[in-house]
Amino acid sequence: MLKDSHSPSSRSIPADNSLPKPDIEAASGSSPVLDPHSLAVSLLKQEYKKAYVELARSGSGVQLYSGGGDAAKGSSMLVRRMLHTETGATLPGRRVPLREEMPSAVRAYDFAVACMREAMASAGQGRFQGGAASDAALGLVESLERNIDALLCLPRMQQRDDYMYTHGVNVATLLAAYAMVSGKPRRKVLIYALAGLFHDIGKVLLPAALLNARRQLSITEQTLVMRHPMLSCDLLATLPDLHSEVIMAALEHHERYDGSGYPKGLSGDAISDVGHLAAVADSYDALSSHRPYKGPLFPHKTLGVLYQMRQKQFHSETVEKFVRMVGIYPVGSIVELKDGYRGVVTASNYTNPMLPLVTLALDPQGTAMCPHECDMATEAVSGIARCLPPEGSGIDPCRALGIVL
Ligand SMILES: [Fe+2]
Repeated sequence: MLKDSHSPSSRSIPADNSLPKPDIEAASGSSPVLDPHSLAVSLLKQEYKKAYVELARSGSGVQLYSGGGDAAKGSSMLVRRMLHTETGATLPGRRVPLREEMPSAVRAYDFAVACMREAMASAGQGRFQGGAASDAALGLVESLERNIDALLCLPRMQQRDDYMYTHGVNVATLLAAYAMVSGKPRRKVLIYALAGLFHDIGKVLLPAALLNARRQLSITEQTLVMRHPMLSCDLLATLPDLHSEVIMAALEHHERYDGSGYPKGLSGDAISDVGHLAAVADSYDALSSHRPYKGPLFPHKTLGVLYQMRQKQFHSETVEKFVRMVGIYPVGSIVELKDGYRGVVTASNYTNPMLPLVTLALDPQGTAMCPHECDMATEAVSGIARCLPPEGSGIDPCRALGIVL
């Protein structure tokens, strides 16, 4: 990471400026990454300070014993039900079933991508207009309000090569969903969606060859790419009545909690709330997206990387809430249970991310079965053993989720 925000590091960075910087890359590469169980236990310990939290040996996932002491033993199912109830009560955006919302979510997503194309084209031609972006933000937020999981899982369901436009839409979805889950008023949720759409708008003023290069950038090129937060601010300043948090997200999404970011090298509380969040969401989408020079990292590994970097590059509380929102096994993930059954995660569990809703599709012998929706928070099933790549898993996640692309 750059130590001096005004002079580039002597180390090369990847061509894509939106990629997390070397410390994160190191964490996702050579350094051990928190496994899902450790991540979940760490999160739970913070919320339930008087609870014993231990990994079950019986194959039923994470067991929780509330209150502590012998009296609490054996009450794990009760606690799991309680957590599930809390989840339903606190997590917004489940008014419509996932499969029912999917077509609308796809339309909202595609409309937002089209708006990004228009906005970036207009900016590139020196006549930046962002009018349609407000409609795009509204469409995304309305979909999230009907079912928060639909839009959150879409990026992993589609193999697209227009990251330049989809990245803004993905970050917009993450920011708006986070605002919703945090209980922010709708006006604020819309502002966060708009902030996500526009956070990288200044990149359109950089040579495309730099953004998509498969080689390491020179120091001069790095310096040029690192100008994009300021370029974004300059463009956004030309729009009338734009909320300051939209501009702050663009300006601060490459700032880092420990002061190692750019363009100003801000640290700690000097970075705004939306800046902290934009940094996490931008890094999550960059790491978990397919790019010409790298494959996507599994979502649960991406979250493990971000979690390990909390209090270093990222604001701790923001990362912890973000992980809860996305879910350690996000919707659309293909998982194998410890007893060999395979299925697709169809709803996350905000309170206990290790116990999502899973639609089982293959039995332990690999034979297709009548899809069975299994609520791991309430049913006595074995825990998740591992996450599988779609290829070779025998399961089509789009079909399981009812997505027609
Ligand atoms: Fe960026």
